Amino acid sequence: MKILLATEKSFAPVAVSSIGEVFDSAGFEFILLENYKSKELLLDAVSDIDGLIVRSDLVTKEILEAAKKLKIVVRAGAGYDNIDLEACTANKVIAMNTPGQNSNAVAELVFAMLLHHIRGGFNGKMGTELRGKSIGLHAFGNVSKLVVEIAKGFSMYVYAYDPFIPDTDIRKYGIKVLKRAEEMYRICHFVSIHLPLNNATRKSVGYDLLSKMPSPAIIVNTARKELIDEDGLIRIFEERPDMVYLSDVEPECSNIFKEKYKGRYLFTAKKMGAQTEEANINAGVAAARQIVDYFINGNETFRINK
Ligand code: 3PG
Repeated sequence: MKILLATEKSFAPVAVSSIGEVFDSAGFEFILLENYKSKELLLDAVSDIDGLIVRSDLVTKEILEAAKKLKIVVRAGAGYDNIDLEACTANKVIAMNTPGQNSNAVAELVFAMLLHHIRGGFNGKMGTELRGKSIGLHAFGNVSKLVVEIAKGFSMYVYAYDPFIPDTDIRKYGIKVLKRAEEMYRICHFVSIHLPLNNATRKSVGYDLLSKMPSPAIIVNTARKELIDEDGLIRIFEERPDMVYLSDVEPECSNIFKEKYKGRYLFTAKKMGAQTEEANINAGVAAARQIVDYFINGNETFRINK
């Protein structure tokens, strides 16, 4: 079997060698395409592979059609909005993700961004503290569970809203569950967004929700920039000078922020949530093992397409 690891944003070298070891022990051939700058390079590299591991790399219909022998693609990470699942199914390719494997890195980034902001960027300015403040978690998946642990360490009050998870499953983490998103935004000075990106959630956080937040208000988005309705974001930023937006990565409207809202935002240049050695090892090795397990045992546990 020939397996390609194609990462436009490369994994840590220690993760790449751990992935290689998994394939070596299985007797699979392992090839690497890192930091590629054009789609053509990827199209060329997939032409004779049986399995593919990617990060946020776009796995489009065009890529899938060029990968004539491909049987399985694994997104080494949680969000799979970069993979055309319908095209996978149409081309008889199994798609999987590796849920939970990089969640801790993302949860830690939530607090790294929050602390950086409330301590004025560590530049000598007066700051504030997390202790005793309220944080709301918009959606309660693997990252949120870890955010709860860390928030408790800071003695914060934690609230969550997730209509797809039974209240009892959230309450067991010792936090308050809210029935409506509006209620959570009304209570919390900090809201951390953890929604998956799909057609129902795209642009689902906008003016209506943000305008409910008490003052001062900080939105932390370590999920996907497309979840935010940027027109609504700009509108609330115009109205509310207390509003802050911390986002892993830059929104489309970042030029407006740079021009008008100095000191009220923090945007990473490249998506940083999973950029730790540990997250890369966890997600990359899980992806490699899932591929081996699929080819050897037919295990489809983490399949995400029909
Ligand atoms: C994820 O969905 O797992 C994270 O957003 C990480 O994405 P990345 O591997 O492209 O950094």
